[in-house]
Amino acid sequence: MSNDCKKAYITTPIYYVNDVPHIGHAYTTIIADTMARYSRMVGLDTFFLTGTDEHGQKIEQAATQRGKTPKEYADEISGKFKSLWDEFDISYDKFIRTTDDEHKKGVQKAFKTMYDKGDIYKDEYEGHYCISCETFFTDTQLVDGGFCPDCGKETSLVKEESYFFKLSNYEDKLLQWYKSDEKCVLPKGKKNEVVSFVEQGLKDLSVTRTSFDWGVKLPSVMNDPKHVMYVWLDALMNYVTALGYGGDEENMKYWPARVHVLGKDILRFHAIYWPAFLMSLELPLPKHIAAHGWWTRNGEKMSKSKGNVVDPKEVADAYGLENFRYFMLREVPFGQDGDFSQKALIDRINSDLGNDLGNLLNRLIGMSGKYFGHKVDSSDVLEFHKNEINKANTILKNLPEFLYNMQTNRYLEELWKILTIANQSIAIYEPWVKMKEGREKEAMAVVALVANLLAKVSLMLSPVMPKTCEVISDAIGFKNDTNYFVKLFEQEELLAEFEVKKVPPLFPKIEEEILKEKKEESKPKQTPKKEEKKTDGIITIDEFFKTSLKIGTIIEAEEVKKSDRLLLLKVDLGEESQRQIVAGIKEFYSPDELLNTQVCVVANLKPAKLMGMLSEGMLLAAKDKNGLSLLRPETPKEVGTKVS
Ligand code: ME8
Ligand code: MG
Repeated sequence: MSNDCKKAYITTPIYYVNDVPHIGHAYTTIIADTMARYSRMVGLDTFFLTGTDEHGQKIEQAATQRGKTPKEYADEISGKFKSLWDEFDISYDKFIRTTDDEHKKGVQKAFKTMYDKGDIYKDEYEGHYCISCETFFTDTQLVDGGFCPDCGKETSLVKEESYFFKLSNYEDKLLQWYKSDEKCVLPKGKKNEVVSFVEQGLKDLSVTRTSFDWGVKLPSVMNDPKHVMYVWLDALMNYVTALGYGGDEENMKYWPARVHVLGKDILRFHAIYWPAFLMSLELPLPKHIAAHGWWTRNGEKMSKSKGNVVDPKEVADAYGLENFRYFMLREVPFGQDGDFSQKALIDRINSDLGNDLGNLLNRLIGMSGKYFGHKVDSSDVLEFHKNEINKANTILKNLPEFLYNMQTNRYLEELWKILTIANQSIAIYEPWVKMKEGREKEAMAVVALVANLLAKVSLMLSPVMPKTCEVISDAIGFKNDTNYFVKLFEQEELLAEFEVKKVPPLFPKIEEEILKEKKEESKPKQTPKKEEKKTDGIITIDEFFKTSLKIGTIIEAEEVKKSDRLLLLKVDLGEESQRQIVAGIKEFYSPDELLNTQVCVVANLKPAKLMGMLSEGMLLAAKDKNGLSLLRPETPKEVGTKVS
């Protein structure tokens, strides 16, 4: 962001509705919300957008698995995002859903415009598709012959008629843009990655699919009803359809975006496809595309299957929403990955917030009350403390630049230096000594200095901690609004005479991790994950017997044509029907040598789909550097025999 024009449009990604919100989503949204609040405070006409991304194969599958229509499912999860943001007091101006009619119309208009321009053409697509990432990959990009280079899941080979966007035409123009606009992608390190990716050459992008239909149809004039739009084309367009593109374009006055805030996982789509689409549509490019890092939990990626997903609502309920906001923005340099730990959060609350900020307010309330009946007057501050005020003003002047560069942690670090000046001033100038010696005027100057420094901190901290700072400003008798921003920040004024009100301590000390206790209370039965941690990987016999292991005979075996790894097996476990099992053992066994041999099967695994084929179990095998061997009974056993 930079402050050179009167409007600011700030966005979050629109989140997929295949999963409920976790702290990663909250992080992005909180950064964007902070930017939006700051932008409003400095007097910009601000539009802040968030929403949900609801089309595509991934959503269709997630809905089917739950026995719902995609729309029913999308309504449910989209609602969860919206209510979380409402509970979190996220100051969005619009919540867009890609299933909104106006959005779909806008996307169709864009498609037609690009088509008419000659940037979209029809051909045939053959390649590998990762449904989880909703991304196409070439042979050379795949890992181990068939797996997604981004998420590691298995891709599927698709061959279908498709429309293509001439991304290759925009290679030079994109490189030109990266070169001419130093801060178009932030931070710099991430920008360099984008540039080298584009320098390796861009292929045209498949922008329609025919193999499923949960998506935006092509414009009807194109008369090609079997195609739906590629979900990323659909999704990226939200940034302009939300402003009315293709309909009532009144709000297009906010375009181009001041900043798109997002995670590094989707930077490529935003820094390559999106500007290319915009160039094709002859729309201005966003000012900044800012990619932050990844939150992990104890060093691991958060995922449902690991059961280590941190629920932002739980954290906020336990530690306070605004403390959580402060922590996220302060703890991790923008662009770098961060590990979520309650210990780090507690340290921030007790130390930065409690000691540095909360205590300062308490001391101000105490001193002003004891010495001056709560009435403070700044008249003599400059006479005695010009030096401190000047130092603080210099820090303040340099602050906005940090936010414009998305360095939220640096912004807060600098702001805290003003608190240090205030806290040190009390220690150095000892107002209680001055009171004893009858130098009231000087004592008043110290107290007023502290109040004024605190006021400036409250103002600049308010986009991060709005409610907390309202309590502070209320106690000192001003408001964290544009009016005071002009006075206290731009004009470097001091508050005149004011009364300091008593408020209860803002940050009571936190003695121990709250979340664990709460979880144990509400869920007396611990998840295996947690016990595992406590007992160093040891499980009880009962836990072991949760796994049902059985001997089975392979009665059919064939290769999965499109896969280098997979065999399709039918296994007799002595049950009513045979099990279909998709096993990744093609490199090590041929179908013939498996036929009529016995194997050991995990029989109570949740069925899963691999390359579209149902797999109802897993074979036990051991793999080392010499290859893979299936585990089998030493002598033949009846099918269905339990292994224990
Ligand atoms: O990608 N750490 O949606 P999505 C930090 N629909 N941020 C995280 C995170 C983590 N562990 N996990 C998620 C999509 N995020 C598309 C976007 S935009 C036109 C379409 C945040 O639900 C981060 O902002 O997978 C990341 O970019 C985003 O959630 C991905 O959300
Ligand atoms: Mg994702």
